[in-house]
Amino acid sequence: MTSPAASKVVHARAPGKINVFLKVGARLDDGYHDVATAYQAVSLAENVRASAADDFSVHFSGPIDTSDLVTDGSNLAIKAATLLARKTGYRGGVHLEIEKNVPIAGGMGGGSADAAATLLACDTLWGTELSREDLLELATQLGSDVPFAFTGGTAIGTGRGDQLSPALAKGQFQWVLALADFGMSTPEVYSELDRHRERHRQDIFPAQLQPQVDTNVLQALRAGDPHMLAEVLHNDLQAPALHLEPELAEVIELGEEHGALAGMVSGSGPTVAFLAADLDSALELQIVLSAARLRVVRAQGPVHGARIIGD
Ligand code: C5P
Repeated sequence: MTSPAASKVVHARAPGKINVFLKVGARLDDGYHDVATAYQAVSLAENVRASAADDFSVHFSGPIDTSDLVTDGSNLAIKAATLLARKTGYRGGVHLEIEKNVPIAGGMGGGSADAAATLLACDTLWGTELSREDLLELATQLGSDVPFAFTGGTAIGTGRGDQLSPALAKGQFQWVLALADFGMSTPEVYSELDRHRERHRQDIFPAQLQPQVDTNVLQALRAGDPHMLAEVLHNDLQAPALHLEPELAEVIELGEEHGALAGMVSGSGPTVAFLAADLDSALELQIVLSAARLRVVRAQGPVHGARIIGD
């Protein structure tokens, strides 16, 4: 282990994600659900700057309102840093400066990206030099989406979403994201799905225990064809998210009426992700949605997973 220089700042960046396909299996005894998802890392990213300190602290900045974020030990970035320190026996602490670009509680894995970038930044700052496999193992302990924020690109996630296998993808997909001015709790959206399934037990097929990603999704990603992908975008959490926040359905409709190939709730919401045919259509859609007073950002994917940035 090398001792960190007092003034050294390590900058790591990790991406937000869109689940272009998400099937949710039945609820398991531990409260989790087996999922089958296709993740795409997108160009909205979290920047974590880590500097040596005696204890653990975090400060947030960036274009989105971060005033409601907790900064104590329950924050996922602090959990990531303390977990790494525990695992490696590192006895110091860290101060984290996080520039947030991914919506908070928005269904795009912003907190997971903070955790993934923090693991990498601290490992570099502290010179603890864990292997990629060990860092991924810690990522898994921090949350279902943290391993993907670490690996990035395009990947299939099974189990809780944390068992990753890379997927072939060609080209870049253009996304327009409509951000909500409220957050949604992932456990609540999963619970709403369970309640819905319970209510309609008579009319719907029971949820599969081990769902699978539709092969058409893999084909569309491999072909790099947004038209093909638009046909097969799917999210089992969309119906419960819309049940909890019905106005999101109007947002989806608005985008689909104004040139989006398809729109859907991202992860557990409330961000709505629109897939555009190309950059020009994405720019046009961004203008239309902004004119309707929605908060809109563009992103493209796939992009890299967590990595160290030389400032
Ligand atoms: O893993 P993570 O902490 O991100 O999960 C947050 C919550 O989302 C879990 O407590 C659980 O309620 C729900 N969840 C789930 N099945 C998954 C992933 C998350 O039920 N595969």
